[in-house]
Amino acid sequence: MSAQDSPSDQAATHAPGALFKRLLPPGEPADAVQIADGLDLQARVRAGGERPYVILNMASTVDGRASIGGRSGAIGDRADRELFHALRASVDAVMAGAGTVRVERYGRIIPDAQTRRRRVSRGLSEEPLACIVSGRLSLAPDTPLLAEPAARVVVVTPSGSSLPETPAQLDYVRASRDGVLDLPAAMAELSGRFAVRTLLCEGGPHLNGQLLLAGMVDELFLSFSPKLAGGEDATGEALRIIAGAQFREPLALELLGALESGSTLFLRYGVCASAPERVSRETMPSSSLAS
Ligand SMILES: NC(=O)c1ccc[n+]([C@@H]2O[C@H](COP(=O)([O-])OP(=O)(O)OC[C@H]3O[C@@H](n4cnc5c(N)ncnc54)[C@H](OP(=O)(O)O)[C@@H]3O)[C@@H](O)[C@H]2O)c1
Repeated sequence: MSAQDSPSDQAATHAPGALFKRLLPPGEPADAVQIADGLDLQARVRAGGERPYVILNMASTVDGRASIGGRSGAIGDRADRELFHALRASVDAVMAGAGTVRVERYGRIIPDAQTRRRRVSRGLSEEPLACIVSGRLSLAPDTPLLAEPAARVVVVTPSGSSLPETPAQLDYVRASRDGVLDLPAAMAELSGRFAVRTLLCEGGPHLNGQLLLAGMVDELFLSFSPKLAGGEDATGEALRIIAGAQFREPLALELLGALESGSTLFLRYGVCASAPERVSRETMPSSSLAS
C-alpha cells in the first residue's frame, strides 16, 4: 500500500483548507494534509524501539498561555485546527491526560469519514487508538469519546479500578511502580500490545511535563498564536504548555521546521536527548498526579 496518495486522490479526499507558508525549510505553500503527509512520521519509527515515536502538539499565545478561561479553544484558529486534525490522521495513537479529556469534552478522534477511509487506504487503522492517562478514573460516562461505539480507547493508569461499562471499546494499560504510573512501561505496552508506533500527545501541560521528564518525547509541535491573553489562574500562575515539576536543567530543543498561516507560527522542534534524571528534587511535587 502506498504511503502517500496521488495528487488526484488527495484532491478528491479533502476540500481546500488554510494554506501554510513554508518558512523552514523553504518551499511551496501547502495545506494541512500535505504538510502532515510530508512529515512522513511512520518513517521516523525506530526499528525494534521499545516505545512509540512521540510527538507533542500544543498551542500557545504569544504571552505563553496554554488555556484561556480554562480551555484551549480560544488560542488557535482555523489553520491550527486543520493541522491538529491532519496530525491526528497521521498517527497510530492519540494520547491526552484525563484533565484535558474532561475539560475539552473529547469526542471521536477522526470525526470525518473521508479521513478515516484515507487512513485505511494508507495502511493505517481507521482511527488512532485514543489513550487517556488517568489515576482516579473519574471520567463522566457522557464524555463524547466514551459514548462513541466505534471508538477504541485505552485507559493508561496505575490503578486497578475500571470505568463503568461504556459504549466505546475500552482496554486498560495498567502500569504501576511504587503505586505511581510507570510511563516507560505503559509506553512499551502500547507499542508491544497495541502496535502503536507513532503517538501524538495533545497535552495537557501536566502530562507533557511528565513525558518530557521521562525522556519520552521526540518532537514538539508548537502553534504560536498571534494573541496576548494576559491574566493568571487561581493559583497565581497562568497555565503554560508544560506544568508540574521544574526541570533540573532546561531541555534543549532543535528547530526542525517553521510554517506560517495568518500570523500563526507553527514550529517543529526536535527534543534533544538528555539524562533521564531531569527533575530537580527540590521542585518535585509532594503529591503527584499519579494516583
Ligand atoms: N494549549 C493547548 O494546546 C492545550 C492542550 C491540551 C490542554 N490544554 C489545557 O490544559 C488544561 C488541562 O491540562 P492539565 O495539565 O490540567 O491536565 P492534563 O495533563 O490533561 O491531565 C491531568 C490528569 O491526567 C492524569 N494524569 C496525568 N499524569 C498522570 C500520572 N502520572 N498518573 C496518573 N494519572 C495521570 C490525571 O488524571 P485523573 O485526575 O483522572 O487521575 C491528572 O489529573 C485545560 O485547561 C486545557 O484546556 C491546552
